[in-house]
Parts: sequence; structure tokens; C-alpha cells
Amino acid sequence: MIQAADINKVATRLANTKFLLVLTGAGISHESGIPTFRGNDGLWQNYRAEELATPWAFERDPVTVWQWYDWRRGIIGKAKPNPGHHAIKELEDIFENFLLITQNVDGLHGRTGNAKMVEIHGNLWRVRCVREGKTSMLMEVPLPSIPPRCECGEILRPDVVWFGESLPTQALEQAFRALEMCDTLMVVGTSGVVYPVASFPETVKNNGGFVIEINTEATPISNIADVSLFGKSGDILPEVVRALRTQ
Ligand code: APR
Repeated sequence: MIQAADINKVATRLANTKFLLVLTGAGISHESGIPTFRGNDGLWQNYRAEELATPWAFERDPVTVWQWYDWRRGIIGKAKPNPGHHAIKELEDIFENFLLITQNVDGLHGRTGNAKMVEIHGNLWRVRCVREGKTSMLMEVPLPSIPPRCECGEILRPDVVWFGESLPTQALEQAFRALEMCDTLMVVGTSGVVYPVASFPETVKNNGGFVIEINTEATPISNIADVSLFGKSGDILPEVVRALRTQ
């Protein structure tokens, strides 16, 4: 049971926050029925990342990689944003200076209306031509053909960041600017083991900022956080917004 005192401590901090930066991971979409990566039912428990989420795996076998993404798109296509997603949209409405950095490629924050947002690992509803590099949205589930092809005839790939690839420059620049400017960082539903994003909480602390963690269990970020609220983000985030609105 979340301590009311902790919720109020977070709400008081938010009430005095000038720039709020929110960082989310797979945990926030778990209550929407989307598996995380490293949890008990996590994707990496059942699939080998190096066979499905690297540029080399795609070069070797684009059909298998696309079959896996088609399966994930099938699950995500049926999913709905949960109260945790909606609460983060409310925070965007409350804070003039606000940015959401999500590691999630599921598009649920976008479907909830978040606009001040960086999808730092990409979006699996967007595809990219491996020759021309141009991107477009591809919403059909199941995919009309595997692998899907660009009108130029070349194969399309999911516009997501795979292991062994660097993060999109523009997204990283936006993230680093926000890390400099924010005075409060809220980290929701991430295991804090994938870099460079996992370094963000320490950067904010080193800049004198305040770090709030929301997770169902302790993570390496718990050692850095000023406050950790342990529980489901779909339960905790609406409570935090409620407490903030009554400050
Ligand atoms: N509410 C809050 N936290 C939750 C919930 C929930 N309902 N359910 C699970 N969690 C927490 C887990 O305890 C875990 O710490 O969410 C975290 C999910 O961690 P991961 O599965 O490792 O996902 P994430 O941190 O987003 O992974 C980072 O790794 O595989 C790559 O590119 C992929 O973006 C992903 C990156």
C-alpha cells in the first residue's frame, strides 16, 4: 500500500517544480496487456533479442523479424492506454515546461494525446525504407505482406532503435536539453539497465535535480531516487495527479 505521506511528498515537490521531465518504460504499458522486456512474462524471457532486435538479425532474416513485429503489433493494436498514460497526459496539461521521454515503441502515449514527447527508441507503427531512409506510418494488422516493401521496391524496416544502433540524433539532443533544464525527473516503469537512457536519473541528480521513481519493484534507479513509490503506475500516477491538484 502506497504511503499517503510519500504521495504528498511527491505532490509538494511537483507543486514547486518549474520544468517536469517524465521518463517512461515498458512497465507503464504492462497494465494495458503489453508484455515488458525483462519481467517474468517479459519478451526477452521467451525470445532472443540478438535474433530479433538487431540490424544483423534483420539483414540475415527479415521475414522472421517482421513476423515477430507483426505479432507484437497485433497485441499492441488491441491494447488501450491505461490510467497511468492518462495521468501523464494530465501532467503535460498542468506543466507549461514539460517533456515526456518514452522508451516505448507502442505509441500509447501518442494515442493518449501527449505531444511534448520524444519516442527515443522509435515507434513500431512507423516504417523506414532501408535504401531511401524515408519513413511512413503502416497501421495494418496483420501486415499485408512480409516483409513489407517501399514503393521503390526495397524492404521496409520497423522505425525502432535496435541493440547495437545509436539513438536518433534529434531525439537525443532534445533529451539532453531537457535533462539540463528540468528540476524534477519522474521515472516510471523502467528497469534502468539500458543505456544511454539509464544514465538520465544520475545526470539530473548531478545537476541538483529531484528524482521520483514509480515501479512495482526496486531498480538501480532506487539508489539514486529521492522518492520511490513502489506499486503499479496505473494506480499511483492518478493518485499523484489528484494530490497535486489539491496542493
Ligand atoms: N507499474 C510500474 N512499473 C512496472 C509495472 C507497472 N504496472 N509492471 C512492470 N513494471 C516495471 C518492472 O518492475 C521493470 O522494472 O517496469 C520495468 C520494465 O522493465 P523492462 O522490461 O526492462 O523494460 P524497459 O526498462 O522499458 O526496457 C528498456 O530495453 O529491451 C529494450 O528497447 C527496449 O525500450 C526497451 C529498453
